[in-house]
Amino acid sequence: MNKDLLSILDLSAADLDHLISEAVNLKMLRKAGRPHEFLKGKALAMVFEKASTRTRISFETGMYELGGHALFLNPGDLQIGRGEEIRDTARVMSRYVAGIMIRAYHHEHIEEFARWSEVPVINGLSDREHPCQIVADLMTIREHFGSLSGLKVAWIGDGNNVCNSFVLASALAGYTITVASPDRFRPPADIVDRALGAGGKVTLIRDPGDAVADADVVVTDTWVSMGEEKEKGERLKAFSGYTVTSALMQKADPEAIFLHCLPAHRGQEVADEVIEGEQSLVFDEAENRLHTQKALLVKLLGREIGEKYSGTT
Ligand code: CP
Ligand code: NVA
Repeated sequence: MNKDLLSILDLSAADLDHLISEAVNLKMLRKAGRPHEFLKGKALAMVFEKASTRTRISFETGMYELGGHALFLNPGDLQIGRGEEIRDTARVMSRYVAGIMIRAYHHEHIEEFARWSEVPVINGLSDREHPCQIVADLMTIREHFGSLSGLKVAWIGDGNNVCNSFVLASALAGYTITVASPDRFRPPADIVDRALGAGGKVTLIRDPGDAVADADVVVTDTWVSMGEEKEKGERLKAFSGYTVTSALMQKADPEAIFLHCLPAHRGQEVADEVIEGEQSLVFDEAENRLHTQKALLVKLLGREIGEKYSGTT
């Protein structure tokens, strides 16, 4: 496995499969109340340029449950906020902590951190991708259907950071993905090309009804991501007709599930009756952030879980 997780394609298909299996193991250990302090004595620095509920709490709780420690760092409180260069900050942090997680406006800043950091760097969301979210989503889908290969995923709405990771991961997990969005909100061409080049199966269309036809998984996200607030009026207008409603869900396979990374905006990208409905797995999906974060942390910051089981029994 690569040193860092900046893009979901930093994982191989085998890495992704293994990570999900380890997350399932960690979920069982936690539910059985069995200790799993695989990262005792290790610290994770978490730099958040943007707000977060799930990512912050799952990483922080995850490190705690693994016996380690997480530092929540607001860039405004670091010298980086006063102009200290990323290359210096990254090298200094590497001398203190076992890993660094960053949520940033610019993907290039996370790449620059990774270039200079001697310890693993994890993308906790950028303008390009949200790889940690997708690992949790794929775990949720695999738990439900038993496998990922051959499934039909329909992404409805904005071709944003989360969508990009979903599109790229199709090359690792063997599902097909159809993205329905207005032309100017499609996932970027270079993302789609990368996914196709790596063996992904991606189709871009306009009509949400066509995208969900016989889909196994219907997924959406906010129409206004963090940092795009100035475009809110224009975006709400452009996405009219892209709400995931019960009528839209009825066009999907009767056994289809609904996913959303959250936070959700009821009445915009999703109707209340869908997110609260029986097909919605959004809270299992949110819970799986914790288990997948822990699997990722153990993988990047520690040793293989298998090697450590002996110490827990
Ligand atoms: N889904 C997700 O990343 O949520 P937060 O923004 O609350 O971390
Ligand atoms: N696309 C959203 C995801 C939030 C978890 C954003 O970037 O704001």
